[in-house]
Amino acid sequence: MKMGIDAFWPELAVRSSGQNFSVYELFIQLDNDTRQHCYRVSQLAGQLGRAFGLETHEISLLETAALFHDIGKIAIDKTILSKPTLLTASEREMVRLHPEMGAQIWLELGGPYSISETILCHHEAFDGSGYPFGLAGDDIPLHARMVTLADALDAMLSSRNYSAPLTIDDAIRIISNLSGKQFDPLLVDLLLIELEYDYDPAEGIELVR
Ligand SMILES: [Fe+2]
Ligand SMILES: [Fe+2]
Repeated sequence: MKMGIDAFWPELAVRSSGQNFSVYELFIQLDNDTRQHCYRVSQLAGQLGRAFGLETHEISLLETAALFHDIGKIAIDKTILSKPTLLTASEREMVRLHPEMGAQIWLELGGPYSISETILCHHEAFDGSGYPFGLAGDDIPLHARMVTLADALDAMLSSRNYSAPLTIDDAIRIISNLSGKQFDPLLVDLLLIELEYDYDPAEGIELVR
């Protein structure tokens, strides 16, 4: 049974206490849908990291980075983020600044560099077609490649402003087609071949060995 986001609040508050910044205060500035999305991406990325064999400390960094991957959106005009129709080119450019803004916010608050790096690179693509740098392959930090995959899968399975959620089968088909393009093929194989998953439209996807 997965822990719901409401049960996660106290844990987040505890994690943030004793640090020189409050991640809780930062996180609650995101709108509710984005918070839910970030929470699910954190859960999924953590499961991927465990299946990959990351050490406990690395998984903690990965989960925290995934939880904050879209934190830069607090600096973006909310009317753009909640626009019910497709964005214009200039609006898209604004939204595409969120990885850099998020990384900057995290660094300024004194958070670990590795988390900032993951936030910065979560929209890079394995074939070099992503942003903000157009990094490719192993030049993209591993944690960022994991967050990219978890992020995309969650986005496909959730309803967006202007589109309905995909079915799990369609999402899996798209992820397979984008293996080696948007996504690290090793991670796609891990997700789709080596792991089993439970999917419930209300609860989202949960990886099970
Ligand atoms: Fe993002
Ligand atoms: Fe995201």
